[in-house]
Amino acid sequence: MVVAEARERARFRARLAAVTPHEIASLFPEDVVVVAGATTAEMDTLYPEERAQVERAVEKRRLEYGAARTLAREALARLGIPPMAIVNDLDRVPRFPEGTVGGITHTRGLCVVAVARASAYRAIGLDAEGASPLDEKLFETILRPEELAAIRDLEPEARGRFAKLVFCIKECAYKAQFPISRKYFGFSGMRVSAEEGRFVATMEIDAPPFLRGHCFEGRYLADAEYVVAGLALAR
Ligand SMILES: CC(C)(COP(=O)(O)OP(=O)(O)OC[C@H]1O[C@@H](n2cnc3c(N)ncnc32)[C@H](O)[C@@H]1OP(=O)(O)O)[C@@H](O)C(=O)NCCC(=O)NCCS
Repeated sequence: MVVAEARERARFRARLAAVTPHEIASLFPEDVVVVAGATTAEMDTLYPEERAQVERAVEKRRLEYGAARTLAREALARLGIPPMAIVNDLDRVPRFPEGTVGGITHTRGLCVVAVARASAYRAIGLDAEGASPLDEKLFETILRPEELAAIRDLEPEARGRFAKLVFCIKECAYKAQFPISRKYFGFSGMRVSAEEGRFVATMEIDAPPFLRGHCFEGRYLADAEYVVAGLALAR
C-alpha cells in the first residue's frame, strides 16, 4: 500500500503541474466547492460502512474510493457539513448528505470532487480522463455518426483527442442525469458539441425527466495529461 501510494502521489504531482485544482474549479460556478488531490488515502480514516464497500476491491480501487471520501469530506466541510460517511448506492451513485449534491471522478492518479447546495443545484456532473487519444476501435461505440463525421478530416492524433473529449463530456453529462433519471443508456444517447472550453450535450433519447432535446451545458479543459468536464445543473 505504501509503495503504491508513493507512486500515485509522484505521478499525480508530475501531472498536476499542468492541470491545477484552480483550473478545475473554474469549470463550475463559484458556489460549487471543488477539491482535487492525488488518489492516495489513509484507509483508517474511512467509516466502517465505506471500508465495507471496498474491502474486497483491488488496491487501486481502494485508493480511488478512499481518496474520494477524504476529498468529499473536505469539500463538504467548506459548506459547513460535518464529517459523515459517503457510501454508494447499489448502482454506484454516491449518496451525498441531505441538502447537498455532488460528483466524483478519479483517473490516473487524479481525484476530483465537486459539491454544492441542493437548494441551488439539482445535480453535479464531473468526469476526468487521461488525455491520450481514444483508440479508433472505440469510435463507433462512443461517437454518433454526426460526431464521427465532424472529426473525419482531422489528423489521427487530433481526431483521437477530440474523441476522448467527447467521451469525457458524455460521461460527465451521464453522471449528472443518472441520479435523477436512474436510466442506463449508451453513448449514442447524447450528442456533444464542444468548443473553446464550453460544451453542450443534447439528449437523443428520453430519460425522464430529461427528454429528447434536453441540453446539458458545461465546461471542459484539456491539456497534455488530462481532459476534465464539469457541469452544475441549476434549479
Ligand atoms: C457511470 C460511469 C460514467 C462512471 O465512470 P467511471 O469511469 O467509473 O468514472 P469515474 O472514475 O470518473 O467516476 C467514478 C465515480 O462516479 C460516481 N458514479 C458511479 N456511477 C455513477 C452513476 N451512475 N451516476 C452518477 N455518479 C456515478 C461514483 O462516485 C464513482 O466514484 P466512487 O465509486 O469512488 O464513489 C461509467 O461507469 C458508465 O457506466 N459509463 C457508461 C454509461 C455512459 O457513460 N453512457 C454515456 C451516455 S451518453
